[in-house]
Amino acid sequence: MTQFRGAKLSDKKIIAVLGATGAQGGGLVDAVLADPDGPFRVRAITRSATAPKAVALADRGAEVVEASLEDEDSLFKAFEGAHGVFVVTNFWESFSADVELAQAARAARAVKAAGVAHVVWSTLEDTRGVLDGRVPVLQERYTVPHFDAKAEADEFFRASGVPTTFLRTTFYWDNLAEHFKPQRGEDGKLVLTLPMGEAKLPGIASEDIGRTAHGVFLGGGQASGQRREHRRRAPDRRGVRRGVRRRTGRAGVLLPGAARPVPGARVARW
Ligand SMILES: NC(=O)c1ccc[n+]([C@@H]2O[C@H](COP(=O)([O-])OP(=O)(O)OC[C@H]3O[C@@H](n4cnc5c(N)ncnc54)[C@H](OP(=O)(O)O)[C@@H]3O)[C@@H](O)[C@H]2O)c1
Repeated sequence: MTQFRGAKLSDKKIIAVLGATGAQGGGLVDAVLADPDGPFRVRAITRSATAPKAVALADRGAEVVEASLEDEDSLFKAFEGAHGVFVVTNFWESFSADVELAQAARAARAVKAAGVAHVVWSTLEDTRGVLDGRVPVLQERYTVPHFDAKAEADEFFRASGVPTTFLRTTFYWDNLAEHFKPQRGEDGKLVLTLPMGEAKLPGIASEDIGRTAHGVFLGGGQASGQRREHRRRAPDRRGVRRGVRRRTGRAGVLLPGAARPVPGARVARW
């Protein structure tokens, strides 16, 4: 029995979750709902409360509110009264670092205005020190815009003064069953194309990002100002191949060490 058992729902602290209908935020919603004796209740933020995923969250007991990262006032209202806020931006809707930066800036101003006690900001590292000169410059100043823009946006949360944990996420293993799933080559064999050479690839099940955020909120202020990185498992290409084989039971999956064209192969995105 935990110290929270029996607490009235109204006594619980609110964790407001951006991206609640998506992979990362959805994992956090799941984690809070799976912990009914815990100190938190969840407020799921979506642009459309009538969309099927949002309705499903309400059916499972989440408070569902509408807000958009494009509308600062709506964010302020969605964050009001919350103890904690999980912020994730979705680069892949706009493909624009500027849009992602502007969204993160709005969220940082809104958490400050709402008096939130603890933010978990889902971020990625700045690739520029590592990749400068080795890949083209994109969107004026980036090497990997969706990484670099998130890293730049860290400063908005630091400057806000709101206690923030910087959750550096990583490649979702889910991608290997989705964007990067094995494709059948011209010879009929399944091929998994990840041009990773001999590098190691850290990864995580996307739902575990939300679980980690839940753990960070449970840990309270001690995690604020800190950076948390998902780096525990980083297999090389043989390890990735073993994992895919284990999960799919497909013996034919190959993993080339370098990029080569495969019909239907997708560009790297995470
Ligand atoms: N794929 C990977 O391997 C990987 C790894 C690390 C980091 N990431 C990063 O993860 C981010 C995407 O997160 P995800 O995978 O959890 O997302 P997702 O599953 O694709 O879902 C997108 C979520 O973002 C919400 N959203 C989008 N635009 C919004 C807006 N203007 N205002 C409010 N909410 C908005 C959507 O909510 P509604 O539609 O309900 O409004 C939805 O819940 C990307 O920026 C990506 O760079 C991805």
